[in-house]
Amino acid sequence: MKRLIFFLLISLRVNTLLAGEGMWIPMLLSQNEAEMKAMGMRISAEDIYSVNKGSLKDAILQFGRGCTASFISSQGLILTNHHCGYGEIQKHSSLENDYLTNGFWAKNYAEELPNPGLTVTQLVKMEDVTEAVLAGVARDMTEARRAELIRNNSRKLIEEARKTTGLDISIRPFYYGNQYIMMFNRIYKDVRLVGAPPSNIGKFGGDTDNWMWPRHTGDFSLFRVYLSSKGEPADYSPENVPYQPEKWLPISLKGVEEGDFTFVFGYPGRTNQYLPAAAVKLITEVSNPPRVMLRGTRLEIFKHYSQTDPLVRIQYAAKDARVANAWKKMIGESKGIRRLNGIERKLEIEKQFTQWAASTPERQALYGGIVPAFNDNYAKLEPLTLASDYLSEAGMGVELFQLATRFVPLVEEVQKPKPDTARVSSLKKSLAGFVDEFFKDYYEPIDREVATALLSYYTKNQPVGFRPAFLEQITARHKGNVEAYVSVLFGKSMFASQQQLTQWLNNISPKTIKKLEKDPAWQAAASMRSFSNNSIDPAMRPLQQANDSLMRLFMTGLMEMQTERRFYPDANSTLRVTYGMVEGYNPADAITYNYFTTLEGILEKENPDIYDYVVEPKLKELHRGGDFGPYASSGGRMHVAFVASNHTTGGNSGSPVLNADGQLVGLNFDRCWEGTMSDLMYDPAMSRNISADIRYVLFIVDKFAGARHLVDEMTLIR
Ligand code: ARG
Ligand code: GLU
Repeated sequence: MKRLIFFLLISLRVNTLLAGEGMWIPMLLSQNEAEMKAMGMRISAEDIYSVNKGSLKDAILQFGRGCTASFISSQGLILTNHHCGYGEIQKHSSLENDYLTNGFWAKNYAEELPNPGLTVTQLVKMEDVTEAVLAGVARDMTEARRAELIRNNSRKLIEEARKTTGLDISIRPFYYGNQYIMMFNRIYKDVRLVGAPPSNIGKFGGDTDNWMWPRHTGDFSLFRVYLSSKGEPADYSPENVPYQPEKWLPISLKGVEEGDFTFVFGYPGRTNQYLPAAAVKLITEVSNPPRVMLRGTRLEIFKHYSQTDPLVRIQYAAKDARVANAWKKMIGESKGIRRLNGIERKLEIEKQFTQWAASTPERQALYGGIVPAFNDNYAKLEPLTLASDYLSEAGMGVELFQLATRFVPLVEEVQKPKPDTARVSSLKKSLAGFVDEFFKDYYEPIDREVATALLSYYTKNQPVGFRPAFLEQITARHKGNVEAYVSVLFGKSMFASQQQLTQWLNNISPKTIKKLEKDPAWQAAASMRSFSNNSIDPAMRPLQQANDSLMRLFMTGLMEMQTERRFYPDANSTLRVTYGMVEGYNPADAITYNYFTTLEGILEKENPDIYDYVVEPKLKELHRGGDFGPYASSGGRMHVAFVASNHTTGGNSGSPVLNADGQLVGLNFDRCWEGTMSDLMYDPAMSRNISADIRYVLFIVDKFAGARHLVDEMTLIR
């Protein structure tokens, strides 16, 4: 019996040890080092982040604003996801050179394609500046005064640091303003496209498989960072030379096995682990369901037309991916919170917090009011959040209205007493480009059907006062008949005709703008804008600000109360380390998922009639030949992807997945559906990140694309 208890204790300990929850600040990683080593790590926290010597962090980049990338060669080659480079790949694509469909491989530096506007950011170091930022701040001052002090302190600190280092400086709040960290960044502006697989590989499984395991996507693309000939970050110039970074990631060809330690190093965007119950309820029970319903409605209509018309399928592919990505995520998130009894668990913590606060008068004074205030604010936020959701998901779900909204800045400029002619012409030019692109991918029958469906839900589900005034036209002029309104809308609006719109744009003047006031799409756009600016925002902002302040105090209190709990700050698009183990999971009763997928799975999924499951002939040939070179597993198979319990979120796309020795083994690109509530509540049993096996990536580069010269640049560990 004694032995059994001991064994239970040990396994409990091991369980808590191996849970992958947490997104850690690299500078403070020594606090995790013992645990990471117990899980199998063979390098030190100092090898991962150091300001005294070169460390892995030097190889990690923020790619654009929303993804991660890493250096993988001494010549500045960087690796990120296909879906992160998608915009750039698409911009370089044309009918003659369709890189999205066929892939792109530069044979030498000269063929690498520049991407003006794209930047990658490298963290040089981070520094805790909490004391200096909060200098003069007192607990009893007003929030406005506090914010002002913080703003002024920060501005001075940033200016100083910028002057002394010449770097890009920012200060970011952690734990809702309980801690401030200064980021010293170097930004690279000449980033060229080097390679991308065909979408059949880079996006294999498409939106059908998105957020799901088992997965078979080779979601990667390659870029290169260039410096000026003087060795400095610079805008694109043909004279620029490839950057030779001090640090690039060595790549392991040994693969991963169940139970292996891994860590993910990257830029997670946003999580909300410490929200009160009322907020979790608002997100998962109030807001997500109608948003899911409205997006689902659009997706059904897209699907209907895409299935029958191949051109429409291409036109709506990117829109469909955008709408579907968040739609699917929200479904998974709400389901996951329900399965975990997430709201009840949060309520339980609040009960403890309330009791803990009540135990001394000082605490009661500081913390006693927080939970009731949250409940009050979130109750008030409920109808406003719904109103705002309907505005963006139903109102702005109509493409015609999106188009009309785009014209607001230009119209406002022209209407000024003294319009800035340079601004007018640049706005006109960019709008003309936008209009061309809009109509290239626009199919009016879809938009009509979407408008009818969405506006029907809008008028039915949102009461007067919580919806924009233009919707009353439907009642007043069309006896509530949405179809009649939609048919007038598309029949009368110049925004429905590229020719009329272009003509109008070319002759824009205060006089022609008069005509706009009668245009039904313009009326709708203007009405939604004023509803948002004058009704929704002013009502929501003070409540959100109050909640932010409450959150800061709640966080302080939680940290005082739960002394044995290990806290980590919510993701805020700053560099983090998360770690876990390679492991499969049980998504549902009687189902067990293996931790890896293989090339065989791609052929099992193959379906020439379904776009998402078309397999490249060359890939089939390689499979038949069975020559996977050094990229095969020890069993001779081609591993494609794997799952592990690293805590990741949006923004971690493109993050390197490293093994116990700090070598690259995978490329993070997604999470498993059953675990997507990890943005609000991580579940060690279900929360898994999905990565492409680096050996599959190299196999595609080398054997599929024949771009062996790129592999030769890398440091391979066999
Ligand atoms: N779910 C991943 C993310 O959140 C991948 C999205 C891109 N892929 C797609 N099939 N839409 O970004
Ligand atoms: N695909 C996501 C991204 O673009 C990563 C998946 C996630 O949300 O974890 O960042």
